[in-house]
Amino acid sequence: MMGKISESDYFSVFKDHGSYGIVGAIIVAILIPLLLSMIFMGKKKNKQRGVPVEDTGEAGLSMRNGRSAKLVDVPWEGATTMAALFEQSCKKNSRDQFLGTRKLIGRDFVTASDGRKFEKLHFGEYQWETYAQIFDRACDFASGLVKLGHDVGTRAAIFSETRAEWFIAFQGCFRQNITVVTIYSSLGEDALIHSLNETQVSTLICDSKQLKKLAAINSSLKTITNVIYFEDDETASDSNSSRSMDNWTVSSFTDVEKLGKKNPVHPRLPIKKDIAVIMYTSGSTGLPKGVMITHGNIVATAAAVQTVIPNLGSNDVYLAYLPLAHVFELAAESVMLCAGCAIGYGSALTLTDTSNKIKKGTKGDASVLKPTLMTAVPAILDRVRDGVLKKIEEKGGFGKKLFNIAYKRRLAAIEGSWLGAWGLETLLWDVLIFKKVRSVLGGKIRFMLCGGAPLSGDTQRFINICMGAPIGQGYGLTETFAGAAFTEWDDPSVGRVGPPLPCCHIKLVSWEEGGYTTSDKPMPRGEVVVGGFSVTAGYFNNDAKTNEVFKVDEKGMRWFYTGDIGRFHPDGCLEIIDRKKDIVKLQHGEYISLGKVEATLMSSNYVDNIMVHVDPFHNNCVALVVPSHQVLEKWAQEAGVKHKDFSELCDKVEAVSEVQQSLSKVAKAAKLDKFEIPAKIKLIPDPWTPESGLVTAALKLKREQLKAKFKDELQKLYE
Ligand SMILES: *[C@@H]1O[C@H](CO)[C@@H](O)[C@H](O)[C@H]1NC(C)=O
Ligand SMILES: *[C@@H]1O[C@H](CO)[C@@H](O)[C@H](O)[C@H]1NC(C)=O
Ligand SMILES: *[C@@H]1O[C@H](CO)[C@@H](O)[C@H](O)[C@H]1NC(C)=O
Ligand SMILES: *[C@@H]1O[C@H](CO)[C@@H](O)[C@H](O)[C@H]1NC(C)=O
Ligand SMILES: *[C@@H]1O[C@H](CO)[C@@H](O)[C@H](O)[C@H]1NC(C)=O
Repeated sequence: MMGKISESDYFSVFKDHGSYGIVGAIIVAILIPLLLSMIFMGKKKNKQRGVPVEDTGEAGLSMRNGRSAKLVDVPWEGATTMAALFEQSCKKNSRDQFLGTRKLIGRDFVTASDGRKFEKLHFGEYQWETYAQIFDRACDFASGLVKLGHDVGTRAAIFSETRAEWFIAFQGCFRQNITVVTIYSSLGEDALIHSLNETQVSTLICDSKQLKKLAAINSSLKTITNVIYFEDDETASDSNSSRSMDNWTVSSFTDVEKLGKKNPVHPRLPIKKDIAVIMYTSGSTGLPKGVMITHGNIVATAAAVQTVIPNLGSNDVYLAYLPLAHVFELAAESVMLCAGCAIGYGSALTLTDTSNKIKKGTKGDASVLKPTLMTAVPAILDRVRDGVLKKIEEKGGFGKKLFNIAYKRRLAAIEGSWLGAWGLETLLWDVLIFKKVRSVLGGKIRFMLCGGAPLSGDTQRFINICMGAPIGQGYGLTETFAGAAFTEWDDPSVGRVGPPLPCCHIKLVSWEEGGYTTSDKPMPRGEVVVGGFSVTAGYFNNDAKTNEVFKVDEKGMRWFYTGDIGRFHPDGCLEIIDRKKDIVKLQHGEYISLGKVEATLMSSNYVDNIMVHVDPFHNNCVALVVPSHQVLEKWAQEAGVKHKDFSELCDKVEAVSEVQQSLSKVAKAAKLDKFEIPAKIKLIPDPWTPESGLVTAALKLKREQLKAKFKDELQKLYE
C-alpha cells in the first residue's frame, strides 16, 4: 500500500561521509554565487499565473489559467475519448517503449530476531513492450472479453495493485465501450461488496492474490459471472483453489488475450460523454461513493496537465507505483500516455535498494528504472525527509555540518536571495552531498508530481533541494478527475497549489457562516468551486448527493463544490487553508478548525497521528494521540518510567502529561488560541492504518470511524 515506506529505506543514503577535505571548494562555492547574486537580484517574481475571469453561476471570484483564455478539452484534435487518445498515441509512438515490468528472479524469506518472517524479492531488469505491442494486447483483451461472454452492456471491475496489465485491461474495456469500476484495494470487504453490487459488475478483473479473498465472499457477489486474474509467477496453486468457485468462469489474463487474438471482434468505441470509469473512493464517512468519470473528463485533465510539465515527451521515463485505483495515479499515467512517455511499474515496498521487500544487495525499482518523473503523496515525502534528517542527526560531526551548510545555501538560492541554484555551486553541492540522496531514486528525477493531500512547505523545500528537482503540487479530487489546480515548475513558493489548470476555472464562493468571504483582506477567501471539462458526471446511483455538490449554470458550465476553503494570492495561485466540514463550533460560539489544529500539533516529535475532537456542548477540545513508539519509549527510558509494554506506557500518567506538555508547547509556538489546545488527551498505542479503516488510503483521518471506535475514550476525556 501507499504510504508505507519504512524510514530505514532512506537511512543508508548517508552512510559514509568521513572524508571531505574540500574546504577550498566550499570557499569557491560561497564566493562565486555571492558575486553573481549581486548582479542577478530579484528575477521572475510577480509572474501572473492565474487571471480573474467573468463566470456565470453562483456569485464568487473566478480565476482561469494565465496562459490560455480558452478552456482546454482535448490534447489534440480527435482525441476526445480515452479510447481515441490511446489508439492515436499508440500509432504516433508505435515503436517507443511504453510499459515495462521487472521480472522476478528469486524469493527468499528472512527471519527477524523476534521470529517473524519477511519476504524478500530479487527482481531483474525492466522488460519493455512498445506502444504498438500494448495496443495489440489491449485489442486482444477486448476481443477475448467479448468472446468469453461478457455482455458489453454490463460493467467490468478492476481490483488489483498497480501493474501493466491493469492499464491494458482498462484500455481493452474502452475498445468495447465497457465502463470500468475501480475500487481501492485497501477498502474493506463491505465496501467491496457494496461497490460491485451497486454497479452490477459482471466481470471482475483482479490479481491472483485477491482470488482467495473473493472466494470467501462469493455468496455476496451475486452479479459476477466472470473472474479474470493477472498471473503471478507463483499463482499456479492459487488458480486451483479458484476453480472451485463453480458459479464463476475463472480465466487467466493471458488466456483471455489468447482467446481474443484468435477471435478478433470489431471495436465498439465510446463517445466523449460516455462513462469511462466509476471510481469508488473511501469516503470519510459511511459507504464509499462511486464517482462517474466520463471519457471527456480524462482527456481534459491529461491535456491540461501535459502543458504544465516542461518538455514532456518520449525521452521521459515515469515510475508508476501508487495505486491506479486512485485518481491521482490514473490521471498521471493518462498524461504519460498522452505525451508518449515510458511507464515502468514498481511498488512502494520495492521502490529503493533498501525497501522492505528488496533482497539485500539487489536493486530497487528506482535504481534500475532511473525515472525522470514520478508521483508522490505527501505522506511518502514526509517520510523521506524524516529519514534523511534522522540519519544526518545520528551521524553528527562534519557530515552534519556540511549538510547543513549545503542545505542553507541551496535554500537561499531557491528562495531567490542568491543566484546559483543552477550554477557552479549547484554542481559542487551535488557532488558533495545531494548526489547521494538523489541516487536513492535513480539519480535522474527532473520533476515530481505531488498530490492527494497538502504537502508541508518544509518538506516541499527539502525535496526541492535534495532532489534538485521542482515539485508540481497538484490539487484535485476524484470528482474533478484530479484536475483543478497545479503549481508551475518555475514557481519557487511553497504551500500553494498553483493556478487553475487550463481545463477548468476555479471560483471562490463566500462562506459567511464560517467567516470566509471573497472580500476578505489581504486575500479573497471562500469555498473552492471547480468548473469546466474535468468536472465529473456525479455520484453513481445517488442523485441527492450529486445535486448537493454539483451544479450546472445557465451557460451549461458544470461546477463542483469541493468543501475546501481556499484563498487566491495576488498572482492568481490558490492556497488551500481549511476544510468546511472540519470546522466546528464550540459552546461559546468560537469556531475551531480541526484540520488546522491537528496539522499544528503534528509537529510535536511525540505525535505520529492525532485527532482533535470537539463536543459542541463544551468550551474546549480534546485529542486522541497515537504517539511515536520510538520517541516515547526513549523518553520513558530516560525518565525512568517503568512499563511492561507500549500499551501500558500509553496509560501512564507521566507519559500522558509529557506528551500534553509537548502539544502545549507547539501550540503556543504556533499561536493557537487557548481553546484550540486540547484540554485532555488519550494516548492510543496502535497506529491508524488504511487497513484498520481508520484513515483513508491517502492517510486522511476518517473522523466518523475514529469517533465510533474510540467512543468510550472520548467520553471519558470530557468527564
Ligand atoms: C445488492 O443490490 C440490491 C439492489 O440492486 C440490493 O437489494 C441488495 O441488498 C444488495 N446486496 C448487497 C449484499 O449489498
Ligand atoms: C449460482 O448460480 C445459480 C444459478 O445461476 C443461482 O441460483 C445461485 O444462487 C448462484 N449461487 C451463488 C452463491 O451466487
Ligand atoms: C491443481 O489441480 C490439479 C487437479 O485438479 C492437480 O493435478 C494439480 O497438482 C494442482 N496444482 C497445484 C499447484 O496444486
Ligand atoms: C463459495 O465458497 C465456498 C467455500 O468458500 C464453496 O464451498 C462454494 O462452493 C462457493 N460457491 C460458489 C457459488 O462458488
Ligand atoms: C456506450 O455505452 C453506454 C452504456 O452502455 C451507452 O449508453 C452508450 O450509448 C454507448 N455509446 C456508444 C457510442 O455506443
